[in-house]
Amino acid sequence: MNNPARILVVDDERFHLNVIVGLLSDDYKVLIAKSGMRALEIAAADPTPDLILLDIFMPEMDGYEVCQRLKGDEKTRHIPVIYLTAKSDVEGETHGFSLGAVDYLSKPISPPIVKARVKNHLAYAQALWDLEQQNEQLECKIQERVLEISRTQDVAIHCLASLAETRDNETGNHIRRTQHYIKLLAEHLESHPRFCDLLDADIIKLMFKSAPLHDIGKVGVPDRILLKPGALNQEEWVEMKKHAAHAYDAICRAEQALGSSSFLHSAREIAYTHHEKWDGTGYPRGLKGDDIPLSGRLMSLADVYDALISKRVYKPAYSHEKARGIILEGRESYFDPDIVDAFISIEDQFIAVAKQFEDDG
Ligand SMILES: [Fe+2]
Repeated sequence: MNNPARILVVDDERFHLNVIVGLLSDDYKVLIAKSGMRALEIAAADPTPDLILLDIFMPEMDGYEVCQRLKGDEKTRHIPVIYLTAKSDVEGETHGFSLGAVDYLSKPISPPIVKARVKNHLAYAQALWDLEQQNEQLECKIQERVLEISRTQDVAIHCLASLAETRDNETGNHIRRTQHYIKLLAEHLESHPRFCDLLDADIIKLMFKSAPLHDIGKVGVPDRILLKPGALNQEEWVEMKKHAAHAYDAICRAEQALGSSSFLHSAREIAYTHHEKWDGTGYPRGLKGDDIPLSGRLMSLADVYDALISKRVYKPAYSHEKARGIILEGRESYFDPDIVDAFISIEDQFIAVAKQFEDDG
């Protein structure tokens, strides 16, 4: 400590005060109070004392009550309190400690014991304070690091998704809309008996974050197919369908090189399975029903709905009603029926997202 520590001595008897002041004033700044009320006033004033030596038997307000009040006040609760008492018994000591005091000293005092206890308790309080400060600083640093990692991840996702977009007719808004659709569906289904074990706030957050990478594999599809201004022939479709596997391979390679994470797992699952269909006629693996990971089933509806309401080189933008009808037709064939029902329940929110992230022109 740079400045001498401030010790508040509380005693109604002048003689005892003088003894302790004489003992401590060479090393500390000693404050005195002759009553409990005065002690509370001094303790609450700035700067607060670093330690309090508190007589127990005083008229009006005894030391126990003073201690209780000090410990009940946010501003003074951290100050170590040492009782001074002429007579003590186990019951009284138990009571005194239960109120938050750190030690007892007997009167008449023993100078070396008082000096040692004061010194030790001040050092302990200072160490506690330093530790708390260090913990706070550490917590701040951890928060900063977590934010930085999260931002880095966001930037990486954004860059990858943008790269895929620049080679595709689909827009950045498609990515934003679909990630919001998937979140809306998942949040609606979080309490559904079939899905409650598969969804929680963290999983939904992960899906929302990884959904933009669902078509990252299109980077591996040749331009002549990806940008073809018309319907694809059969051979071109075969190439186009490979985008799901391209994404899967790329993310697997990343996981092998860098280790996996819940984010990479989610991104891989969505990219690999968002073209599977409920009846098993989808691609790349022809998975059926619940064998299709939930994230893929959710992305499937989000992706198809968005393709339907968006203009493509081979089709105009359909109205919500038309898209809704097509999706309803796909209930139990293309899509998980419960996910279609969820979509119908929250269709107004889909319309709102589509409007919020509308394409230009
Ligand atoms: Fe796709």
